[in-house]
Amino acid sequence: MHPYNGLIEKYRERLPVADDTPVVSLNEGATPLIELRNLPRLAGKNVRIFGKFEGLNPTGSFKDRGMTMAVSKALEAGARAIICASTGNTSAAAAAYAARAGIACFVLIPEGKIALGKLSQAMMHGSVVIQIRGNFDDGMRLVQEVAKTMPVNIVNSINPYRIQGQKTIAFEVIEALGDAPDYHALPVGNAGNITAHWIGYSEAVCTDTRACALCQGRCGYHKTKLATRRPVMLGYQASGAAPILRGRPVENPETVATAIRIGNPVSWQQALAAQQESGGWFGECTDGEILRAQKMLAQTEGIFCEPASAISIAGLLKDLELGKIGEGSTIVCTLTGHGLKDPDTAIAQSVKPLTVEAELDAIEDVIRGHLPPS
Ligand code: F0G
Repeated sequence: MHPYNGLIEKYRERLPVADDTPVVSLNEGATPLIELRNLPRLAGKNVRIFGKFEGLNPTGSFKDRGMTMAVSKALEAGARAIICASTGNTSAAAAAYAARAGIACFVLIPEGKIALGKLSQAMMHGSVVIQIRGNFDDGMRLVQEVAKTMPVNIVNSINPYRIQGQKTIAFEVIEALGDAPDYHALPVGNAGNITAHWIGYSEAVCTDTRACALCQGRCGYHKTKLATRRPVMLGYQASGAAPILRGRPVENPETVATAIRIGNPVSWQQALAAQQESGGWFGECTDGEILRAQKMLAQTEGIFCEPASAISIAGLLKDLELGKIGEGSTIVCTLTGHGLKDPDTAIAQSVKPLTVEAELDAIEDVIRGHLPPS
């Protein structure tokens, strides 16, 4: 048995890395694909639903997949510093990988609008945290401007290496299921991840070296076809931050799912292409629907994901209800980040702890009051 050393080592021949690329890895990837057995029953549907739990990556989100590539390539290019705008998770991953690589990291975050766990990560890993009086979209614009004048390497998903790393999720899903699922549902914020999923699935079915727009066959990847088909892509946005559904940028995006509080996604066109080529669709969910799905997943499946991640479940449940997804389908939902990232939102919607005297009677009373009927 070979030890697992992260996704660059595992998928080396499918990624744009050279033998001497300095690999910066925290053994990201290889996340579990967990069958959600209770949801179909509760929804009254004969389907199989799987959660790809990206919250189990080293910094607690899928961003680690892209960051191992972006930081390795930055180091290869001799970068001294990286920079990103972030709703939280990208900053956490950038900070951690920069720390490991021994380079500086600057993160621009919207003041007061990122979840506590993510802020603590960026701070603890020693990045320079710059809170801006503006939103993610302002930060994204500033990062692109400042990179023209300062020696900083952008590690947002406009960096093509980020997308390359993130595409590996599709390979893992295919390996776990034996082929692509019928549907793949995920949250859409800056739209890099849906783009990456679609590239991964597309490369997995491609053996035509001449037709490949990505590399014209240079990657050597086409030697083995991993899957026989590609899934229908379902992208979900929060109602208060749904530029793709509205067909125009949203100036003041708002949602409890702060990770996807984005009004003008950088990879908008690529996300549209993924939806159209796959025959998929975009959908929206309210904050109430997002939080209900988050709680349902936590309380019926034992999986604690963050609010933005739960939108893939919320949207799927709605579309199942509407009959848009056929009986017998296999669906994968990307659960993009861990629930521990955002303890405030979790605590605010949960039953408060009980406080009692440190006495046996008191504990017994509580148990009696809460035991399920026999
Ligand atoms: N889910 C989580 C937990 C996220 O953190 C993000 C994006 C998304 C979904 C959406 O992915 O942007 O590729 O469409 N977070 C970015 C950040 C914007 O800064 O952490 P996307």
